[in-house]
Amino acid sequence: MILPICVYGHPVLRRKAQDVDLKAEDLLQLIADMFETMYHSNGVGIAAPQVGKSLRIFVIDSEPFKELYPEEEPRKQAFINPTILQRYGEEVPFSEGCLSLPGINEEVLRPSTIEIEYWDEKLNHHKETISGGVARIIQHEYDHLEGTVFTDHLTSLKKMILKRKLSDIASGKTKPSYKIKNH
Ligand code: NI
Repeated sequence: MILPICVYGHPVLRRKAQDVDLKAEDLLQLIADMFETMYHSNGVGIAAPQVGKSLRIFVIDSEPFKELYPEEEPRKQAFINPTILQRYGEEVPFSEGCLSLPGINEEVLRPSTIEIEYWDEKLNHHKETISGGVARIIQHEYDHLEGTVFTDHLTSLKKMILKRKLSDIASGKTKPSYKIKNH
């Protein structure tokens, strides 16, 4: 089922998400709905708070990054109860966008490499080191679990310039092609 996407201004985006009960009956359905919602809105990742659930889950599909990162194998998977254990490497700039911030794209610096621990949708536990485009998507989605959005990383000058765009999103004036919820 395609779910409406909570946009900037919705309080769920500012909450720290809670761990998921791995035995919860509706876990796999939520993950399936998150994938469907992500594809419908042409995202490369979506986190549970963006569909109104304050839970520590995000899903990604890095297939659209194939041309930007030809050396990387695309990854499609869910990350459940993830913890980023370490971030290292050089700070890399990349122009990010977010389904919760329609119409905004800004360069964000993030470390190139992360070490992350998580459960996948088959409930297997993993601990791995990831770099490049996938590490970028993961760090962006992980922010959503912490109540952060990518514009929080920008300079105060950039934030000031974006103020109008952000308030248009929060007030529901910005209408993307997908269904949204602003409160
Ligand atoms: Ni996002």
